[in-house]
Amino acid sequence: MSTQIIRPARSLQGSLTLPGDKSISHRYALLAGLAEGTSRLTNFSTGADPHSSLACMEALGASVLRNPDNSIEITGVAGAFRQPSAPLDCGNSGSTMRMLSGLVASHPHTFTLIGDPSLTLRPMERIRNPLMQMGAKIDLTDGHAPIVIHGTPLYAIDFATPIPSAQVKTAVLFAGMQAEGVTSLSESILTRDHTEQALLAFGASFTRSRSPNEPARLSIPGGQRLHAVDATIPGDISSAAFFLCAALLFPDSNLVLDSLGMNPTRAALLDVIAALGGRIKVLTVEEHHGELIGTIQVNVDPAKRTASPLIINSPLTAQLIDELPVLAAIAPLTRGGLILRNAQELRVKESDRITLVAKNLRAMGAQFTEYPDGLEIPGNQSLHGATIDSGSDHRIAMAFAIAALRATGDSEILGAESASISFPEFFTALDSLALR
Ligand code: S3P
Repeated sequence: MSTQIIRPARSLQGSLTLPGDKSISHRYALLAGLAEGTSRLTNFSTGADPHSSLACMEALGASVLRNPDNSIEITGVAGAFRQPSAPLDCGNSGSTMRMLSGLVASHPHTFTLIGDPSLTLRPMERIRNPLMQMGAKIDLTDGHAPIVIHGTPLYAIDFATPIPSAQVKTAVLFAGMQAEGVTSLSESILTRDHTEQALLAFGASFTRSRSPNEPARLSIPGGQRLHAVDATIPGDISSAAFFLCAALLFPDSNLVLDSLGMNPTRAALLDVIAALGGRIKVLTVEEHHGELIGTIQVNVDPAKRTASPLIINSPLTAQLIDELPVLAAIAPLTRGGLILRNAQELRVKESDRITLVAKNLRAMGAQFTEYPDGLEIPGNQSLHGATIDSGSDHRIAMAFAIAALRATGDSEILGAESASISFPEFFTALDSLALR
């Protein structure tokens, strides 16, 4: 386990190009692996998680070329995965495990999906339920991995997602596009739509409808074949979140982020940054395969920092789910603090993120209240340097490295290597942007 010492900083200045978005990289890896032909993916995520998806695709018969410039070439299996010779190792990646389950369930082989100790604790009934309704044969151990899938033909269902989860939605859509009939899925709380955009890019078709007061509904016909694509993956806004939050901590911050993913279903963070006193200027924006990619400049306007707390509850929790740890970590340093509720999903991420945020806030001397589904953290507090327990959770390690920039005294982040799950360049980028 590696430790990083974080010294307080006096400002945040400079520009940064983020590695490719983790969510989008997973979807492109999986769909390219199934498609016919060779896909070329530029700015693929450097995080370990999407590389778990790539390795699974290789084990299922796709060939993968990893170039030094972070571009990837994947030649897919043209619709027919082969029987893997060993369990499919999803590492730390819930996205890989859940989405892959839907992707392989109709192929006539036996697939065993395994993960690391954190992934093995995470709930998998949420994908087994809809897939079993479609006819899939899936064994779990106490609701968890290892997952054993006995591939069999699937038939369409009409499914309403009980929890807002883009991973569950994706598992159903991936299974549905290979099932018999038209699978429908409705979500009353909208989750990120990268799967929908990626499916269109790979040539799949579906319909999407939303009438007032009705959940959004997707209908995807089965029996579809995918073709390869050339795509550029936008920079990861969930990785950018750490630096956007860091910028808020210093009145003279100046940060430029380029090639940033700004998909509206992921960009709620930009409104939150503005509400916390950030001034965001969009310098460029373009669209690529349905995803917005832009360059933004971020400064701080201290006059905009409101004294009222930032309130995040449903449906915003689903849209900000991966950014909540860093928003909570900096909350004591904001003027109005944070009231976070309806965020119980945080307890079943790579760690119990509510417990770990609470533990580390306490270590830094913050006052707050913990609830089963969230935290209430007053603003205008000061933090002192502390030993941070990341729980080997990448987002906890990075979130508290940001809070530590405005603490009195140094902090040490235990398990700092976990940042490489989504953002291996994080500590180097932090060193180059933080002025001491
Ligand atoms: C993801 C969806 C979210 C998120 C995860 C990535 C995705 O999980 O927390 O890091 O790529 O679809 P849920 O959909 O389970 O909330």
